[in-house]
Amino acid sequence: MGAGGMLGRDVVRACERRGAEVVALTHADLDITDGPALDAEIAATRPDAVVNCAAWTDVDGAEDSEAEATRVNNEGAGLVAVAAAEVGAKILHPSSDYVFDGEKGEPYFESDHTGPLSAYGRSKLAGETSVAVVNSKHLVVRSSWLFGVAGGNFVETMLHLAGQQPEVLVVSDQIGCPTYTPHLAAAIAQLIEGEAYGVHHVAASGACSWYEFAQEIFDQSGVECRVMAATTEMLARKAPRPRYSALESERPDAITLPSWKEGLREYLAERESGRSEVAA
Ligand SMILES: NC(=O)c1ccc[n+]([C@@H]2O[C@H](COP(=O)([O-])OP(=O)(O)OC[C@H]3O[C@@H](n4cnc5c(N)ncnc54)[C@H](OP(=O)(O)O)[C@@H]3O)[C@@H](O)[C@H]2O)c1
Repeated sequence: MGAGGMLGRDVVRACERRGAEVVALTHADLDITDGPALDAEIAATRPDAVVNCAAWTDVDGAEDSEAEATRVNNEGAGLVAVAAAEVGAKILHPSSDYVFDGEKGEPYFESDHTGPLSAYGRSKLAGETSVAVVNSKHLVVRSSWLFGVAGGNFVETMLHLAGQQPEVLVVSDQIGCPTYTPHLAAAIAQLIEGEAYGVHHVAASGACSWYEFAQEIFDQSGVECRVMAATTEMLARKAPRPRYSALESERPDAITLPSWKEGLREYLAERESGRSEVAA
């Protein structure tokens, strides 16, 4: 589900690379809030595992549309998990660092108390519970600050702005783990083959602020643009965001991803090769 999204596209590729037979369903193919269509699809396909990358991901938009966001991120997620359970399939459900309030001041582990600040965070947390309640073979994979070539993301926003103005103003008081979607997708493809049920924190190694991330984007891509630090209050966004939402795993079977700087290097290389293919 959600195979047309930023993470979904890389998950399809990662699973195929491991030799799995994949049925990739985009939003146009299947709406996860349509229970009967979902049941029919899963009953017909009878998969061993379902990865639900479909989600409402407009964090600011969810503040004014919490019911709609919850319909997808909670009710839809639950419907997918039930349909999977009915054919004995595992469910892998991506979730978010925004289920935390950001006040811990150090990396969050799987067992830490949640406390979402935003409507999006509440809808994602509710989805985690709905999935876990209806399907005992669940893997809830929380990650953070995703970027991949299949979606609009912070790296593209920064490079676009740098092409238009000599300086950018970026928040320096929110810390997270910018995670390259192919790195997360490889971990997801690995996790669905096993039985390590429960919650997993899977995010890039290391943490930084959006300000540091922007600086690194311009350094690595050789683009001239001055980064100016702003506070969260200065750039008032609709949805409140956790100030510190770095994720680490306390699990003995934790999957360690490459660093966010390595993820950025690979992203810029993938982006460049995509451009030269288009030009050729
Ligand atoms: N992006 C991040 O920084 C981040 C961080 C942590 C965790 N996550 C989680 O990672 C997962 C994937 O996120 P992403 O960044 O890949 O998001 P994305 O690019 O927005 O992809 C989400 C996909 O879900 C589809 N979708 C929305 N409503 C649907 C519905 N009712 N039925 C079927 N498909 C539907 C969207 O299709 P349309 O575009 O056609 O609506 C889109 O293709 C989500 O669970 C998200 O919460 C994301």
